[in-house]
Amino acid sequence: MLEHRIALKNAGRINPASIDEYIAAGGYNALKQALQMPPEKIVYELIQSGLRGRGGAGFSTGMKKKFTSEAACILLECMRYIVCNADEGEPGTFKDRIIMEQDPHLLLEGMIIAAYAVGAGKGYIYIRGEYHHSIDMIRKALESAVKRGFLGDNILGSGYSLDIGVKLGGGSYLCGEEFTLLESIEGKRGYPRIKPPYPAEKGLFDMPTLINNVETLCHIPAIILKGSGWYKGLGTDRSPGTKIFSISGDVKNPGYFEVEMGISLKELIYNLAGGIKDNKKFKTALIGGAAGTFVPESFLSVSMEFDSLQQKDAVLGSGAVIVMAEDKSILDMLHSILRFFGHESCGKCVPCRVGTQQLLILLEKIIANGDRNGSGLDALLKQSELMAQTSLCPLGQSPVLPIKSAIRHFRKELINPPRKTAHKGS
Ligand SMILES: Cc1cc2nc3c(=O)[nH]c(=O)nc-3n(C[C@H](O)[C@H](O)[C@H](O)COP(=O)(O)O)c2cc1C
Ligand code: SF4
Repeated sequence: MLEHRIALKNAGRINPASIDEYIAAGGYNALKQALQMPPEKIVYELIQSGLRGRGGAGFSTGMKKKFTSEAACILLECMRYIVCNADEGEPGTFKDRIIMEQDPHLLLEGMIIAAYAVGAGKGYIYIRGEYHHSIDMIRKALESAVKRGFLGDNILGSGYSLDIGVKLGGGSYLCGEEFTLLESIEGKRGYPRIKPPYPAEKGLFDMPTLINNVETLCHIPAIILKGSGWYKGLGTDRSPGTKIFSISGDVKNPGYFEVEMGISLKELIYNLAGGIKDNKKFKTALIGGAAGTFVPESFLSVSMEFDSLQQKDAVLGSGAVIVMAEDKSILDMLHSILRFFGHESCGKCVPCRVGTQQLLILLEKIIANGDRNGSGLDALLKQSELMAQTSLCPLGQSPVLPIKSAIRHFRKELINPPRKTAHKGS
């Protein structure tokens, strides 16, 4: 069995609307145990576990909590916040939705423990506005958790109190970026902030704020119950634990699969997702979504974890794997990615506002006229690198990833595309 479920352990097994079924499956035992522990001990356990953020950047979850809990408040009246990032805007990613729909109490339990560890008194779950079912399930779960004393005032008689509310996403990709998300919760337009300071020091309403992805928080209850040593034994040395991969595209069995970090791309595609549709050959996988990297066939044996991919100039990101068969066009895919970035650029800074449009123009010229000597591709790469160096926030730094990887691995095809894929730009 290749799957190893931690974040998805109850998915499909219990009635997600029933807190009793969650409790019968061992739910809220980790919270009970955590409330007996000093908060610093929880932070220590999380650091020891090696858990890294599953939202894309892979930052140490324990260290983030340490920074948040130790951050000094700049205002006299201090409130620490916890925010769960459930915006799930990265194309090809559909894992947080599954957790919220099928096991909302696991997310709440992880979030309450994390909040207790950093001393947060107020929390928000920022859910993608289109995720209606997730929103309903989380709202119901919050209500029943308060009724049972797992949330609210004086949780389980511990003296610790926490209030959690739901905020609906602003409908833009950028609102999933942590600073923009904070602006959005504050009721402002979804523009990013300049960093540093980071949210741990100056986050929501200028207060120390812990922001974690849904999947990240769902690992915390198991780490509390089974210990950091157990968790560290899963996955790889530098990327312990499990990861949910969202696999889509030209595979026979698309879906979400939770496996130990370090599985090969080949196992993911052929053993879990059933192989390439219609018995075609594999051409590429776009790993990490639009802000991800194209990888060629030689990457099938690469270990799917943060560092092995990074060493090969690829990214794990949110765990999206969009598979393309031999007859699919890299140019077409790049075109739709660049249209996406052009649409999602918030327009605050010139390099990205103008740059994303220039990238589109350059690519559409290549599509329309061909690029026999490769000068169009060189210009595209140069423009995306310039954008990465000069843009204000990570969105403007993202197009270089798919562009560079496509040119690096598929230059020949991009210069000389198969005839049926060449088309006029839109
Ligand atoms: C443009 C952009 C969009 C993002 N969208 C999401 C998102 O939808 N969900 C998410 O968890 N993280 C997203 N992130 C990453 C967050 O900024 C942040 O790193 C993450 O929420 C931290 O949680 P983690 O440490 O648990 O991964 C995005 C980042 C960028 C630059
Ligand atoms: S890089 Fe793009 S998304 Fe980010 S602030 Fe500038 S215009 Fe907005």
